Amino acid sequence: MSNKPLVIANWKMKLGPEDSHELAHDIADADTKNAQVVLCPSFPSLLPVQEAIHGTSIALAAQDCFWERRGAYTGEVSVDDLVALGCQYVIVGHSERREHLGETNEQIHKKIRIALEAGLTPIVCVGETFDQRTSGARDYVLIEQVTTALQGIMLNTKEHVIVAYEPVWVIGSGQAIDAPQAADAHRLIYQTVLDVLGETVASKNLRIVYGGSVDADNVASFLSLEHTSGVLVGSASLTAESLLAIVKAC
Ligand code: PGA
Repeated sequence: MSNKPLVIANWKMKLGPEDSHELAHDIADADTKNAQVVLCPSFPSLLPVQEAIHGTSIALAAQDCFWERRGAYTGEVSVDDLVALGCQYVIVGHSERREHLGETNEQIHKKIRIALEAGLTPIVCVGETFDQRTSGARDYVLIEQVTTALQGIMLNTKEHVIVAYEPVWVIGSGQAIDAPQAADAHRLIYQTVLDVLGETVASKNLRIVYGGSVDADNVASFLSLEHTSGVLVGSASLTAESLLAIVKAC
């Protein structure tokens, strides 16, 4: 995996195939050498985006996957099909899926396992809600999410896991948390991975990124932190102008 800062663009369910293709094209035509850009369009937009970025250094990711490779699972998407479409990464456990679809840490664990088996790098989202934070439960929540997601996962030297720390209440709010608060959470995540999977994995196979109202003005403050390899961007990734401003600021 490249050592450049990761800029992961999560387009959620906000852009259809045509708009995604056009945006991916504009990004692919621009100078993105400061970062490893990873585009996460909706499932129906994966192919058009893959066509637009083909032959460039920009990578493709899906926003979710299922935990079985094949079978009678109506409406679900196989990791093998994501690989066939050119995906290198897959987001699992985004807080919007935890909230609206009731995804559990156990399901997320199974998705991580199958993603790695298929050769995808999982981008595992963790983060506390506002209530959990104000009640002092942040550390407990993060330790539980990371431990259940990753316990027993074996990684060879070439495999990576990306953990995205996304405090739930700042997602889409336009107001990110301060970098020192993110630094504190990232240290805890690093330490938890070290406890669960050992020092070699924590230091060599793990990347931690920050997500939640990242923009061109605050991205540098997050990238300067210890244990921080990039950012996961929602709202500010929806136009070429704002995404490329983030890449430029890396
Ligand atoms: P945001 O979204 O940048 O709009 O806060 C981030 C995310 O949900 O991944």
